[in-house]
Amino acid sequence: MNSYAQLDHQYVWHPFTQMRDWLRSEPIVIASGKGAWLTDVHGKRYLDANASIWTNLHGHQHPKINAAIARQLKRIAHSSALGLANEPASLLAAKLVAAAQVGPRRAHGPSRKPRPLAMKDRLAKVFFSDNGSTALEVALKLAYEYTCRTRGPQTKPKFLSLTGAYHGDTIGAVSLGHIDLFHKSFGGMLFKTDQVMAPYCYRCPFNRAEPEREDARKHRKCNWECTSLVAKQFAAQKRRGNPYAAFVYEPLMQGAAGMIPQPSGWMEQVTDLARSHGALLIADEVMTGFGRTGLTCHVTEEALAAAVKEPSQAKLFASTRTGIQPDFLCLAKGLAGGYLPMAATLTTPRVFDAFLGKYEEFKTFFHGHSFTGNQLGAAAGLASLELLQSAGSVRARARLQQTLQRELKSLWALPRVGDIRQVGLVVGIELVKDWPTRAPYPLRERAGIRVCEAMARRGVLTRSVGSVIVLMPPYCTTEPEVKRMVGVLAEAIREVLG
Ligand SMILES: Cc1ncc(COP(=O)(O)O)c(C=O)c1O
Repeated sequence: MNSYAQLDHQYVWHPFTQMRDWLRSEPIVIASGKGAWLTDVHGKRYLDANASIWTNLHGHQHPKINAAIARQLKRIAHSSALGLANEPASLLAAKLVAAAQVGPRRAHGPSRKPRPLAMKDRLAKVFFSDNGSTALEVALKLAYEYTCRTRGPQTKPKFLSLTGAYHGDTIGAVSLGHIDLFHKSFGGMLFKTDQVMAPYCYRCPFNRAEPEREDARKHRKCNWECTSLVAKQFAAQKRRGNPYAAFVYEPLMQGAAGMIPQPSGWMEQVTDLARSHGALLIADEVMTGFGRTGLTCHVTEEALAAAVKEPSQAKLFASTRTGIQPDFLCLAKGLAGGYLPMAATLTTPRVFDAFLGKYEEFKTFFHGHSFTGNQLGAAAGLASLELLQSAGSVRARARLQQTLQRELKSLWALPRVGDIRQVGLVVGIELVKDWPTRAPYPLRERAGIRVCEAMARRGVLTRSVGSVIVLMPPYCTTEPEVKRMVGVLAEAIREVLG
């Protein structure tokens, strides 16, 4: 066994990993990466089909990001954000705020006249931290304190999130989560939050459609029972005299829940409901941010031409794509292009102002991390944003979305593929025992894990969420590389599941 693999086995405890299984075989030890490829210590090359757990945007060793980090490194790697400002973090905050603005179209819901958001309600302030969980933790604590301040000291702020939600692994983020497998064992440490039905058209009990060989959202036969349940939930909490403080959601697609996309119109309905009941909106765009959800649902040549003409206007977030501005926008993973741990929670002057006062009023937000506003991360973030807003990247993303759309069609021929869900540059392929009945694989059969292992043997790396295989390639992935990813996935499914 390679000496680093031996050291790993001896000393390292891996996240979300059954270590007894891990210790049974030699792990892949990554030595380098370039573009969409990773190379291990034996020289074997792998396509990075999940962008190194959903973080990498432009590929590994991108010359512009490398250069930006190297330039910053010659000046300083890190100084504290407690009591000090720094250049790249200030600039990155300004650019994030600019990129997060929504137009007037859906500022106040479809039922009311479109009008621009009041300045107080526009995302304008950035609190930096270092990972997705802390981005959520910050939003949660700010929303909690803001609600106490504005509703009075007797208030017990209550949060609502979606079934299957995953928002990270710190205690606040776990409290918002509703995946028993991950969260149940910590039950005693958590605070109570409520959950409400998330749309999951493929397995929705209200969907009367028979399974088809197409995305289940397209054939949905229902009366929006899921949003009626959301309406009931908000109303019931209001009747209890304590309306929800905040509604937490991943816009357009829930990631760790199983790459579950929302049918068109769902976001508008539920966020309008939340707003009308006085709840703050916390959008978790840790996975969906930075161009992941694509330019539009389907990239037409006209949309692409328009986007390439004005690349700096390309929508980078699911929230800006849908025009629904949250009160908190949580970003991480791709923020520094997938290079460095960097996160941000954006919020409004309305929230910010509630924390202003004389020192002795102690309205300060008493929260922070040692690496808040880290210069190297911010420099990488700036370079990544510049790339995202270039015509070349906009074109590459649109082409990648189209290529995925086309190539994925071949997978419908496999009887073990139940649903293929694509939102922009995120794909979830749900494996089932039998597609006409949607019979699922029990978790203990490790169907998703075994398929990923078979893919790795063939040189394509990704991880499943349950029985859902995730494809989330870096934006530099070429057409032949997508073909290879999809082809290898098909071979692996046939080998493992028949
Ligand atoms: C939607 C979402 N929120 C939060 C997180 C937590 O991010 P991190 O792992 O950086 O703490 C994740 C991680 O996968 C995520 O997908």
